[in-house]
Amino acid sequence: MNDLPTAPDPSEGALLSVRGVDVGYRTGRRSHVTAVHDVSFDLHPGQSMALVGESGCGKTTLGLGLLRLLPRAGVVPKGEILFRRKDGTRVDVRTLEKERLRRFRWNEAAMVFQGAMNAFNPVLRIEDHFVDTFRAHEGGRRWPRKEIVERSAELLEMVRLDPSRVLRSFPHELSGGMRQRSLIALALALEPQLIILDEPTTALDLLTQRSIVERLAELREELRFSMIFITHDLGLAAELADRVGTMYAGRLIETGTTGDIFYRSRHPYTTALINSVPPVVGDLHVPESLPGGPPSLTSLPPGCSFAPRCSLAIADCTTGRPSLDVLTPRGEGLSHAAACLRATDAELHAEGVSRD
Ligand SMILES: Nc1ncnc2c1ncn2[C@@H]1O[C@H](COP(=O)(O)OP(=O)(O)OP(=O)(O)O)[C@@H](O)[C@H]1O
Ligand SMILES: [Mg+2]
Repeated sequence: MNDLPTAPDPSEGALLSVRGVDVGYRTGRRSHVTAVHDVSFDLHPGQSMALVGESGCGKTTLGLGLLRLLPRAGVVPKGEILFRRKDGTRVDVRTLEKERLRRFRWNEAAMVFQGAMNAFNPVLRIEDHFVDTFRAHEGGRRWPRKEIVERSAELLEMVRLDPSRVLRSFPHELSGGMRQRSLIALALALEPQLIILDEPTTALDLLTQRSIVERLAELREELRFSMIFITHDLGLAAELADRVGTMYAGRLIETGTTGDIFYRSRHPYTTALINSVPPVVGDLHVPESLPGGPPSLTSLPPGCSFAPRCSLAIADCTTGRPSLDVLTPRGEGLSHAAACLRATDAELHAEGVSRD
């Protein structure tokens, strides 16, 4: 009998356990191009995770793939998306059949899409979007419209909107900030346990951004949902997230607590991303740009995809693909892990490649 202590299972108690997931887009009847490769992570109840990385690195594709909300050409050919439902059972979202998937969305997990305008049907008033959402998930009961409208008004008030102004409006009659808040209210409608927000405040002025971000943080405290939010804004990530995942060329290449990522990053890409933003506090330094661009999905370089742009790359980086190895183990999916052959090189990291 082997009575050695076993490593804690990181998925124990997790709300979402993503294991080896690929997401792609069909290019023909039997072929697809893979946009997201082999992603694994755990998200625990109440946690908030930011996904960061350059444009085109697969953030939206991963978010949509996790909830099976991809456009028609989208496929999730590989992996497991294990989700703990409100009743405690676990389902694999990847293999849920249509009707169960329909019930899963909004009830258990909701998405706030990139570009709030396109997420609304332009010919329906905001009120009708709420009615449709409630009606589509009412199960055995039939909610009277009046009850739905009252609940919708409460939800709009929660995101600091005036329901008497918003409910009867068409999406184009609202400002960008109001539409974005309405979308967040709609996502909260059925009290999901997970909300994925894709660039929730892009294209909004700074004051509106700030008030939406503050309200989101408060709502998360009040309602205790978990959140994955996708952003280019590292300041927002630092503020709203317990943990951050960096993506590069379709892979999750570093993950850790906000402190790990902002002060102790071990993947040179994460470090470059952070150094490309002027600091808000501390010494002012000239932001460093990262030469070159990410590789094309159809011609990924052998070995580490970042190697051609990496100032620390060595010969081995261009042959073997590094796995996402744990550097600092922690419970609840909060380990610091990086996919870099040089992540544990003492001389590179003794002083910290980061800016602290
Ligand atoms: N509908 C689609 N059909 C085919 N390829 C797509 C489709 N949508 C996205 N892609 C490709 O998948 C890759 C990842 O795109 P994705 O939109 O997920 O990136 P992103 O990280 O969200 O970028 P951004 O920060 O600009 O929003 C890109 O190379 C993109 O061209
Ligand atoms: Mg995107």
